[in-house]
Amino acid sequence: EQDPAQHPGQADPRTAGRPLRSQAWFGIEGKDGFIHRSWMKNQGIPHDAFDGRPVIGICNTWSELTPCNAHFRELAEYVKRGVRDAGGVPLEFPVMSLGETNLRPTAMLFRNLASMDVEESIRGNPIDGVILMVGCDKTTPALLMGAASCNVPAIAVSGGPMLNGRYRGKTLGSGTGVWQMSEAVRAGEMSKAAFVEAESCMNRSRGHCMTMGTASTMASMVEALGIGLPQNAAIPAVDARRQVLAQMAGRRIVDLVREDVTMDKILTRQAFENAIRVNAAIGGSTNAVVHLIALARRIGVPLSLDDWELGSNVPCLVNLQPSGEHLMEDFYYAGGLPVVLRRLAEAGLLHADALTVNGSTIGANVATAECFDENVITPFETPFKAHAGIAVLRGNLAPRGAVIKPSAASPHLLKHRGRAVVFENIEELHARVDDETLDIDEHCVMVLKGAGPRGYPGFAEVGNMPLPAKVLRRGITDMVRISDGRMSGTAYGAVVLHVAPESAAGGPLALVRTGDIIDLDVAARRLHLEVDEEELQRRRAEWSPPPLPERGYYRLYVDHVLQADEGCDLDFLVGGSGAAVPRDSH
Ligand code: FES
Ligand code: MG
Repeated sequence: EQDPAQHPGQADPRTAGRPLRSQAWFGIEGKDGFIHRSWMKNQGIPHDAFDGRPVIGICNTWSELTPCNAHFRELAEYVKRGVRDAGGVPLEFPVMSLGETNLRPTAMLFRNLASMDVEESIRGNPIDGVILMVGCDKTTPALLMGAASCNVPAIAVSGGPMLNGRYRGKTLGSGTGVWQMSEAVRAGEMSKAAFVEAESCMNRSRGHCMTMGTASTMASMVEALGIGLPQNAAIPAVDARRQVLAQMAGRRIVDLVREDVTMDKILTRQAFENAIRVNAAIGGSTNAVVHLIALARRIGVPLSLDDWELGSNVPCLVNLQPSGEHLMEDFYYAGGLPVVLRRLAEAGLLHADALTVNGSTIGANVATAECFDENVITPFETPFKAHAGIAVLRGNLAPRGAVIKPSAASPHLLKHRGRAVVFENIEELHARVDDETLDIDEHCVMVLKGAGPRGYPGFAEVGNMPLPAKVLRRGITDMVRISDGRMSGTAYGAVVLHVAPESAAGGPLALVRTGDIIDLDVAARRLHLEVDEEELQRRRAEWSPPPLPERGYYRLYVDHVLQADEGCDLDFLVGGSGAAVPRDSH
C-alpha cells in the first residue's frame, strides 16, 4: 500500500508553479502533514482533495439571529457546487454574524470585532481564496474588511433582497415603512392592530431589506467595486438566479486563486471612486461612507471623507425607497445595477477599465446592459433627482465633518436656521420628545448627543429622531435633526449625521445647549453654531467626558475606535498583514 503521507501533492500546474498556501498544511510529509490531512478526512474528504488544488474558504454569516442571512447555509451549497465544478475544494466556516434588528446596543459596535474573526480565520487556516457570504448591513463591510487585511483572492456573494413587502394591496418597504407607519400611529392615523398586521406583510421572504437601505447599498457597492459578480446587487434572494450567481462565484474564485488575483488588484482607488459615484446614482445609504473609508484603509487605498464629494455632481437615477417609491425587486426586473453602471460610463462618470472579479473590466461587463423600466431606472438626462450623493458639511459644530443625504431630505430644510432643542442622550430623547410641554416646533433644530462611536458605544442608528407628536399632528413630516450618530439606510429626512469629533470625545457638539442658534446651509456645505468662541471655551471648561465601559470588548473598542471621518475602524486594525503562512501549531 502506498503511504499517502509520504507522497505529498504536486502544485497545480495552472498556478504556474506558484505554491498555494494550503499546501503548507496539506502538502507536507511526516507528522504534521498527517495531522492536517487525517483529521480533515473524518469529514469524508478523499485523499486527492489534498493534491494541490485550490482550497476555497466559504466565510458564512449564517445565523438564525440574523434573519436576513438565515438562508445562507443553503446558498453556500451552490457556492460549493461551483468550487467543485472548477476543480477546487470548498470548506465552509462560520464567523460572527451581525443581525441589524436584534443586536444591541447596535450591530455597528461589532463590525470591527467580526472583521477580526474573519481576518484571523482566513490567515490561520489552509485557505487559498475565499467567498464572503454577506447580506445584512454590517456583515458586508465586516467580511470585506477582514479579508482585505489578508489580501487573498476573494469574491463577495450577497444573499439578495427580500421580495417586495405587500400590505393591503400596497407595496411596503422594509425599514422605511416602519418609520412611516410608526409616525402614523403616533399621529393617530393608524390603529395598533393594523400596525401589528403589517409586521407579517413587510418581511415576507428570505433575504435582506429590499429598500435601498444599507444592505442593498452595500450589495451595490460590492458590484460597483468589482469584488462581486454582475447583478450581485439586486437578484432577489428567492430567485433561482441568486443560486446560479453563488455557483458562478464558486467557479470563478478557483480561477482567481490560480491567477493570483488578490483583493488589492480589484479594490483600487478607481474602484472606490466608482463606488462613491454609484452610491450617489442609486440614492445609497450614508452608512456606506464609513464602511468604504474603513475598507479602503484596510487595503491601503487613500480615501477621505471629502472624496465623497465626487458623488455630488452625479444625479440619482434609481427611484427606490427611501428616497423614492420602488423596491429592489423592481430594480432587478428593470435591469439592475448594470444599467446604472452603463449610464455612468456613458456620462464619463465611471472608470470603465477597473478590473472586476469575473476577469473583465467593469465597463465591458455593462456595455450592453438594457433598461426595461425607466420609471425605476431613469435616463441620465432626465434623472429621478438631479442632485444626489452625500454632502460633507463642516463648520464650528463639525470641525472634522458631518454628512447629510440631500436626496432624502425635504428641500426647504436644506438651508435652515433655527433654535436648538438638545437631548443629552437617546433615553432623554425618548422620555421627552412627546412631552406636550416641551418647547419645540418645526422651526427648531433637534440635537442629539452621545450617539457616536465611543459615546453610545458603537455609533447607533438613532440620528433620524422621531418628530415630536405635537408637531406630527399638525401634518409636519420633517425637521432638521443633528447628531453624532448614524441613520438606518432605510430612513429619510433632513438629518445631519456623523458629526465629528463626536460629543463623547469632546467635540463641539458636546457644548450645544437648548436655545442656541444653529445655521445649516447644505449648498455651502456649512454647519455653524452661533455661539462665540469665548462662551464655547467657558462651556468646555465645565464639560467632563462620560464614563467609559470597564472591561471586555466594549473597553477595547472605546479605547481604539476612530472617529467617523476615519471610518470607525479600530486604530490597530487599519492596514493589513497579508496572508503569509503562520508558524506551525505543533
Ligand atoms: Fe438586515 Fe435590513 S435588517 S438588511
Ligand atoms: Mg440598518
